[in-house]
Amino acid sequence: MFHRTARVLEHVKLAERTFRVRLQCPELAAAIRPGQFVMLRLPNTTDPLLGRPFALYDTVLEDGKPVAFDVVYLVVGKMTGRLVEVAQGESLQVWGPLGKPFLDVGTPDRVALVAGGIGQTPFLAYTRELLGTRGFGGDVSRARTKKVSLYYGVRNANLAAGVDDFLAAGAEVHLASDDGSIGTKGFVTQLLESHGKTEPLVGCGPEPMLHALANLAAKWGVSCQVSLETPMACGVGICFSCVAKVKTEEGDDYKRVCIDGPCFDAAKLVWE
Ligand SMILES: Cc1cc2nc3c(=O)[nH]c(=O)nc-3n(C[C@H](O)[C@H](O)[C@H](O)COP(=O)(O)OP(=O)(O)OC[C@H]3O[C@@H](n4cnc5c(N)ncnc54)[C@H](O)[C@@H]3O)c2cc1C
Ligand code: FES
Repeated sequence: MFHRTARVLEHVKLAERTFRVRLQCPELAAAIRPGQFVMLRLPNTTDPLLGRPFALYDTVLEDGKPVAFDVVYLVVGKMTGRLVEVAQGESLQVWGPLGKPFLDVGTPDRVALVAGGIGQTPFLAYTRELLGTRGFGGDVSRARTKKVSLYYGVRNANLAAGVDDFLAAGAEVHLASDDGSIGTKGFVTQLLESHGKTEPLVGCGPEPMLHALANLAAKWGVSCQVSLETPMACGVGICFSCVAKVKTEEGDDYKRVCIDGPCFDAAKLVWE
């Protein structure tokens, strides 16, 4: 794991309350894999004291070598509210890669990525990895599937962030919104279901959406993994603030999302 002071190379608005921050950190950019995350902390302040977790959105290459990485975030509270004010040329404290990459999906013809809210963020790098257009963590690029379909649900059109990035990366994009202002009106899981059974499913987003996805996967009898966005304090397995309840052969148990996840087999989680 690297702990660095990383310079902000770019900081741009993508959608309502949604921003992309690009951080210069070659070692971390070279090591991180899709599904993993970093902790970010503001410079020159202890408020908030704890870092906050953010998924890898993308890596940035120069002459074919990773030099920086992108995080896309939604402003929800104290840290993200202050992060917006950090300008290009300033620095952030960053540590990672943290957590485990997405679980192996084998080599299916198609992979369906299902995102809700800000849950699209882990899927851009993953699209590149699945289609074999970029290697991560020192791996050479190799195609694992022919087609990546992103199902992306938002409250309204103003919150849809990064759709062009996904199209440019080669994903097929299907949009849903609560108010019908973009894509199909309704929940993203309803849109997915209307397209018929598909496997494997990979989800990230609010827990009710992930629960609905897990139920759909069980109904279809298909494999499904979900990336959890559980609030975290340490990010490295020490504080137990991030636990998720899982089924084991000995009964229910708790796993730390920061080190055992954030990606889990949806069938093994206890949904409450
Ligand atoms: C592995 C992982 C990856 C993540 N990736 C991203 C990402 O790529 N982009 C992104 O925008 N966010 C991501 N998140 C969520 C992000 O960490 C939180 O939004 C962030 O910590 C909020 O910090 P804050 O100080 O702004 O808000 P706070 O002041 O800490 O909280 C504001 C409000 O948001 C609620 N809240 C805080 N964290 C969460 C959460 N995880 N889920 C639901 N409610 C929460 C609090 O209960 C509170 O009501 C990720 C979380 C995890 C665990
Ligand atoms: S965040 Fe501390 S154990 Fe997971």
